[in-house]
Amino acid sequence: MTEYKQDQLREHVYDGIQEYDNRLPNWWLFILYATIVFAIGYWLVFHTFKVGDLQIAKYDKEMIAATEAQLAAMAGLEMNDEALQMMTTLPDRVAEGRQVFTTYCVVCHLDQGQGLVGPNLTDGYWINGGTPMAIHQTVTNGVLSKGMAAWGNQLGPKRVQSVVAYLLTIKNTEVPGKEPEGTLEEGTE
Ligand code: HEC
Repeated sequence: MTEYKQDQLREHVYDGIQEYDNRLPNWWLFILYATIVFAIGYWLVFHTFKVGDLQIAKYDKEMIAATEAQLAAMAGLEMNDEALQMMTTLPDRVAEGRQVFTTYCVVCHLDQGQGLVGPNLTDGYWINGGTPMAIHQTVTNGVLSKGMAAWGNQLGPKRVQSVVAYLLTIKNTEVPGKEPEGTLEEGTE
């Protein structure tokens, strides 16, 4: 190895161009090392220890917060299709609904909603209507003559909404179970 000297021309020539092999300036090296340190730190924070949220998680959280705010603004108003549909995007509400369903409904509708005494809630067929508000009405007031209780008083409005939101998430998932009853909802196959 030849001894290092500043501005010493290398022997090779390409297209008439010769070059130096000078040491990189410190400011340049500093930026290089800084990016490496940053990358390791970033990896540890976001991927190894998962301290921070990545963009997708941040986005999901913001969407949930926005939906919650929208629903809060509607609180006190009559329930409607849109609000119930919005609740299906809130993991907490769907989980609460799943909990209610497991506690009160599985005896007759089975654990996946595939139906036993009560109809299959995962097909496109509905006896009392499959729109969010129709389901809300059935759960609230029941179909007493057919053995479906009115759950409105027992569960209270919030848990009724949650269980309806949960039912909307399993609607049309077509779990094999009880034969379809009622009529096929429009727009479903
Ligand atoms: C004791 C049995 C029983 C229990 C418990 C029960 N259901 Fe039902 N459910 C039925 C029967 C029977 C029907 C069919 C009513 C009819 O023929 O109109 C029904 C119908 C329904 C329907 C309407 C289905 C359609 O096709 O229109 C929904 C929605 C529903 N139940 C939700 C629930 C929820 C939510 C719970 C728990 C909070 C629940 N059910 C608990 C027996 C039950």
